[in-house]
Amino acid sequence: MRIGVLTGGGDAPGLNAAIRAAARRAFQRNLQVSGVMNGWAGCLGRGEIENLTPASVRGILPLGGTILGTSRTNPLKEKDGIQQVISVLSREGVDGLVAIGGDDTLSVAAALSESGYPVVGVPKTIDNDLSATDFCIGFDTAVGVVVEALDRLHTTASAHHRVMVVEVMGRDTGWVAMVGGLAGGADLIIIPEFPVALDEVVGHLHRRRGDRKDFSIIVVAEGVRMPDLEPALVGEAEQKTDAFGHVRLAKQGVGEALSNRIEAATGFETRVTVLGHLQRGGSPSPVDRIWATRLGVAATDLLADGKSGLIPVRRDGQVEVVPIGDVVKETRQVPRELYDLAQVFG
Ligand code: F6P
Repeated sequence: MRIGVLTGGGDAPGLNAAIRAAARRAFQRNLQVSGVMNGWAGCLGRGEIENLTPASVRGILPLGGTILGTSRTNPLKEKDGIQQVISVLSREGVDGLVAIGGDDTLSVAAALSESGYPVVGVPKTIDNDLSATDFCIGFDTAVGVVVEALDRLHTTASAHHRVMVVEVMGRDTGWVAMVGGLAGGADLIIIPEFPVALDEVVGHLHRRRGDRKDFSIIVVAEGVRMPDLEPALVGEAEQKTDAFGHVRLAKQGVGEALSNRIEAATGFETRVTVLGHLQRGGSPSPVDRIWATRLGVAATDLLADGKSGLIPVRRDGQVEVVPIGDVVKETRQVPRELYDLAQVFG
């Protein structure tokens, strides 16, 4: 049996650890392995698929990015896209696929499985918002980047008595903002799940000054919608979308708009930091490496045992297996409990 491994969507620290785990388990079980290059693009048209050997996956555990490359190519947008994927994989002798990705990549994997091709998934996205799993590969490293940034911004914010607005990734949800903000001691965390008005932000800053706290660290998720900021934001209609219909949120400039509005409304000196792709780069944390390893091995085992349409996930600290459709059914949101917890530290 030959399995294929593919990484799709935005990269995330831990992808290489997952590729290594899936491949090493395959070699242990006497399976052969192919790498699909550049996400779904690698199995469209003429295809781009390479044989992987033990040497190809040696030394990659601590590396960020993905040795296979990635893309946001969407076969569901191509004419007969799923049939093209199946024929390229079949032509290359790939009997089953491990698709490592977030909701976009895994939606395609679910469609592929429904068409009868053997496929399993591995959950990855720094946004951490797939449902049916407590954790997605890449999230822990991204949170670590945010925390380090907040620790650094604290000292300069306090020295200058400034408001620091820190924009972090999070397309639809505020997991990176909430967990990073809590661990990094932000005094206000603004996320899509719990919208706030500019007046509340201004009230919060005045309250802090009244309490003799003369600086502030505000974390805002890039996907937040605040009607008060709308005229300053670059509108969605003016932006190009990718093959999955997403605009580039960093271009919308929520952090910049918020920081300008705060300064205008309070007179407090305000600066903005946009962490951007720093959150996705570099070496994965131990937690991301361990879970990429556990989930990658479990994914290969599913295929090798003749199973399809499934994905190993983390639930209550254990690996469990659910249908791929379950993780893309809805976007997992930050619970009220964490939002309330953050209010203690305003
Ligand atoms: O989907 C994960 C994500 O990291 C989002 O948080 C962010 O909006 C997006 O990717 C950025 O994608 P790109 O790499 O295309 O700029």
